[in-house]
Order: sequence, then C-alpha cells, then structure tokens
Amino acid sequence: MSDNIAIYPGSFDPITNGHLDLIERGRHLFDHLVVALLTNLEKQPLFSVDERLEMLRLVTKSMPNVSVDTFSGLLVDYAMRRKARALLRGIRAFSDYEYELQMALMNRKLEPRLETVFLMPAESYAYVSSRLVKEVFQHGGSVKDLAPPIVEERLRQKILRKESKAGA
Ligand code: PNS
Repeated sequence: MSDNIAIYPGSFDPITNGHLDLIERGRHLFDHLVVALLTNLEKQPLFSVDERLEMLRLVTKSMPNVSVDTFSGLLVDYAMRRKARALLRGIRAFSDYEYELQMALMNRKLEPRLETVFLMPAESYAYVSSRLVKEVFQHGGSVKDLAPPIVEERLRQKILRKESKAGA
C-alpha cells in the first residue's frame, strides 16, 4: 500500500500557533503531511516566500513526517503531482465554513479523487489568524501565545527595518 499523504495548503503569512496545532493533529492522521505554501498570492504578503518558507521549516523541523514545499497554480494539480489523497484545512468558527465549503466543493469538482479533511484547532486558537497576529504586533501587542517565537522575532526585525527606512 502506498503512503497516505495529505497536503496542508495556505499562505502562512506568517504561520501561527493555530496552523501549528493543525499540523500536529494532521500529522497523526496521515503517513506524511506536506505543508504547501502558495507562492502566487493575490494579496500582498508581509513576508516573502523565502521568509515564510524558512519559518515553516524551522517550526516543523522536529516533525519527521512533515515536509514543507511551495506550489503555484491549482491546488488539486499540485496535490495529484504529490500523489496525495487528501487536502487538510482548519475550521475555526462558522465564519470560516462558507468559504471552506465552497473551496472544498470546487476542488472536488476539479478532482473527485481528492478529499478535503477539516480539522478544528484547539479552542484556545479559535480566534487566531495570521492577519490578527500581524495587526496586534504592529500596534505593540504581545503575540507570545499566538505564534511561534521565530515569528515574533521575524516580525520584530521586519517592523524595525520598516521604521529605520521611514526615519532615514
Ligand atoms: O491560507 P489561505 O490564504 O486561506 O489559503 C488559501 C489557499 C492557498 C488554500 C487557496 O487560495 C488555494 O488553494 N489557492 C490555489 C489556487 C486554487 O487551486 N484555487 C481553486 C481552489 S477553490
């Protein structure tokens, strides 16, 4: 039997503790979990692809059945190339459901051999998103319990660089 591979796709700008919680849950359900970073984002990301990849690699390096990769184009095409059977997505609240359902059904229409598996993160991460982590940090709040320490460090470097450029 071939390995049961799942893809956990996203923009991860940046990775949060909610994402990490989902990776931990997902990696116990599948033989191998690929965290796949979308490179052609429509929205302008704060972190470059390389910066996001580095953070993803650092926080998953102790997880033997997790790898990190990038993709562009259709997620289902990438997943089939990787011989995956499932796409993993997190649902935090009702508000996520409509968008996620639409995406899952569209992906099923495009590639019926792939299933989308939804997992719920721990309740303590139900309100955590990349967008809010950036916003809280930019306004001086602590993101200690919301994102891994490396993310806090990279956010600090990014903001300091921006401030020194603005002051120059
Ligand atoms: O972290 P995000 O931004 O919620 O992730 C969204 C993502 C990357 C899963 C989604 O935008 C995606 O799969 N994009 C690839 C293009 C694609 O396949 N679009 C059709 C999906 S319905």
